[in-house]
Amino acid sequence: MSVKTTVSVIKADVGSFCGHHIVHPKQMEVARECLEKAKKEGLINSYYVTHCGDDLQLIMTHNRGESDPKIHELAWNTFIEVNERVSKELKLYAAGQDLLAEAFSGNVRGMGPGVAELEFEERRSDPIVVFMADKTEPGAWNLPLFRIFADPFNTAGLVIDPSLHEGFVFEVLDVMEGVSVKLKCPEEMYDLLALLGTPGRYVISKVWRHDGLPAAAASVSRLSLIAGRYVGKDDPVCIVRAQHGLPALGEILEAFAFPHSVAGWMRGSHHGPMMPVSIKDAKCTRFDGPPRVVALGFQVTNGKLVGLYGDEPADLFDDPAFDKARAMANEIADYLRRHGPFMPHRLGPDEMEYTTLPQVLAKLKDRFEKAT
Ligand code: F6R
Ligand code: MG
Ligand code: MG
Repeated sequence: MSVKTTVSVIKADVGSFCGHHIVHPKQMEVARECLEKAKKEGLINSYYVTHCGDDLQLIMTHNRGESDPKIHELAWNTFIEVNERVSKELKLYAAGQDLLAEAFSGNVRGMGPGVAELEFEERRSDPIVVFMADKTEPGAWNLPLFRIFADPFNTAGLVIDPSLHEGFVFEVLDVMEGVSVKLKCPEEMYDLLALLGTPGRYVISKVWRHDGLPAAAASVSRLSLIAGRYVGKDDPVCIVRAQHGLPALGEILEAFAFPHSVAGWMRGSHHGPMMPVSIKDAKCTRFDGPPRVVALGFQVTNGKLVGLYGDEPADLFDDPAFDKARAMANEIADYLRRHGPFMPHRLGPDEMEYTTLPQVLAKLKDRFEKAT
């Protein structure tokens, strides 16, 4: 057992209320029951159950390291139990959607749920932010993570603070080939951007400070690549550590003041702005969106998550400082919506391969005649 603390954020869409809209409170209740039991048994030190749109989120701390089979099994069994006892019982929409495997086999990666895990030695004080998004994909973190850890126009500390000045190392995964590469910023910034600009293929999975201090971890699963068919977008999660030689909380949040365009939204087939919202607004409505992101702030203290009011974390986008980003997101949403089924609102043909569009195109195949 390690003296280090691990934060595991494991999420799945196991069905939702009134369409692909919102997790039902009873689903969260059952999840809490399962995690409370695991806490009493000493498997995990603490937990917080929440949701972002139709995704059930399990945020846990423990001392078992990343990719621990017992922790992954706990998450898998929790999702199964929620699905059996609530999603199926209430006939919630798309019950069990992300539970793609028949049975648990050691690690939930590749089985449907999304996972972000970060093991670290606790500093004197360890603030963390857990980001959770709905109606988008893991590549949606590329732009904000780049800005947080590599863009001096976002993160003043990269210029001012000697401990950030040496830069950060990014691990980038090629989700198509299943290979990864580590690139160091600022030295290899242009190489890094050459990859990150294709967020449907290259996604940031980890970030370390130049001296190896773990700084961030993101989920990378692409459900369609696992299932070989369209099963919704992957609604990613991400853990970022803050302060004292890492980007400040405000530098981390600043990256979300610009609602950048991400892939996802309706039928996982459209570009739309990523709107930063509070938990109460983390429910997709207009055209199943627009894509949303929430940010919860915790202290990690002696291996446990500490909240602000009892267990409740800080709901960081519940703040008028992000009203402008939300208004801009609504403007962008209007602009893009007016394109209807046209690109660049609808995704390009490469990305549409993983949707239901090819089935429609296949029907027309034999009707094409040689153009004269
Ligand atoms: C996007 C998403 C939704 C659904 C859409 C159609 O990730 O989950 O936008 O794709 O609501 O859903 P079905 O085909 O289940 O009616
Ligand atoms: Mg759903
Ligand atoms: Mg979702």
